[in-house]
Amino acid sequence: MYAWLKKGLFLLPPEAAHDIALSALVKGRFIGLPRLLGGCPRSAPVECMGLSFPNPVGLAAGLDKNGDYIEAMGELGFGFIEVGTVTPRPQPGNPKPRMFRLPEHEALINRLGFNNKGVDHLVERLKKRRFKGIVGANIGKQKDTPVERAADDYRFCLEKVFPHCDYVTVNISSPNTANLRALQDTGPLRELLAELTALRDRLARQHDLNRPVLIKIAPDWDDEALRASLEVIGQSGIDGLIATNTTLNRSGVEGHPHSREEGGLSGAPVRERADRTLELAREVLGDGFPIIGLGGITGGEDAARKQALGADLVQIYTGFIYGGPALIQDCVRAWSSADA
Ligand SMILES: Cc1cc2nc3c(=O)[nH]c(=O)nc-3n(C[C@H](O)[C@H](O)[C@H](O)COP(=O)(O)O)c2cc1C
Repeated sequence: MYAWLKKGLFLLPPEAAHDIALSALVKGRFIGLPRLLGGCPRSAPVECMGLSFPNPVGLAAGLDKNGDYIEAMGELGFGFIEVGTVTPRPQPGNPKPRMFRLPEHEALINRLGFNNKGVDHLVERLKKRRFKGIVGANIGKQKDTPVERAADDYRFCLEKVFPHCDYVTVNISSPNTANLRALQDTGPLRELLAELTALRDRLARQHDLNRPVLIKIAPDWDDEALRASLEVIGQSGIDGLIATNTTLNRSGVEGHPHSREEGGLSGAPVRERADRTLELAREVLGDGFPIIGLGGITGGEDAARKQALGADLVQIYTGFIYGGPALIQDCVRAWSSADA
């Protein structure tokens, strides 16, 4: 049924299709739409960062930016859902059009620019959630906050979401907020992580709750720069890593009518770079450091390969748009067989 629905949705501009699909999913929950679309919660429990994940396949940040679809997404079978990116205040993001399909490459380009309803809206949604799996909150910097003051925004959001989610992701890797990626350089990264781990520890004492804080990185570094930043991450006391966000690189999609659109490229073309980042991260950070592998998963074999490269969990986004809920089951199955 997803293939049939996708044909209709792909006749619409990508962002309109996205909005219509998500609100239809919410309305259709009461007639069992998630299951008709192939959704089927599967149990393949994984313990990671002191949390119990019902299965290792999560929805990556960006699809449910405001936490408006947590229940519907949960019914499709995700073991965990990462909502956001949210910023301290609501913001509209970049002018439309800002999302483009490259179906021949199972890819998307987006330059949404953290369009979101603000952290307070997300907190209200998190408080009301009934989904039994794990929910992470992904936080970012307001467009008009200078990058030198980015830590203020991350601290503001961390404080707000901390008691209401299961883990927090600090997104310093979106290519669509000017200068954000400068926070990945070793100096700013060291400072930011020191501030955020200190705040995490204070909040843990205040609320008597442990909430892992993860950092999400880009796939666009050369090995030397990546190694240096990973060493900072390893020494920082941060709880985990998500590798990776979208890429600015266009290799593999040159010549496509949308290939020159500004923004981050995701899906199959980011796979190789995301896998290399994951592989190096596992090498530098060593066994036992929690890593979520993400980028270019379009079939179960991609999830199993990330597991072999050292991922403790995986997330999907673009592959899910093209493949629908069946991809979740494929990934859970492939992960479990590789485990056996
Ligand atoms: C339309 C779109 C919006 C996204 N928005 C966010 C976001 O708000 N925050 C974030 O951390 N990542 C965001 N991402 C990146 C994804 O979470 C993911 O890291 C990336 O797409 C690579 O995974 P994939 O190849 O499975 O899509 C977005 C990706 C897409 C395609």
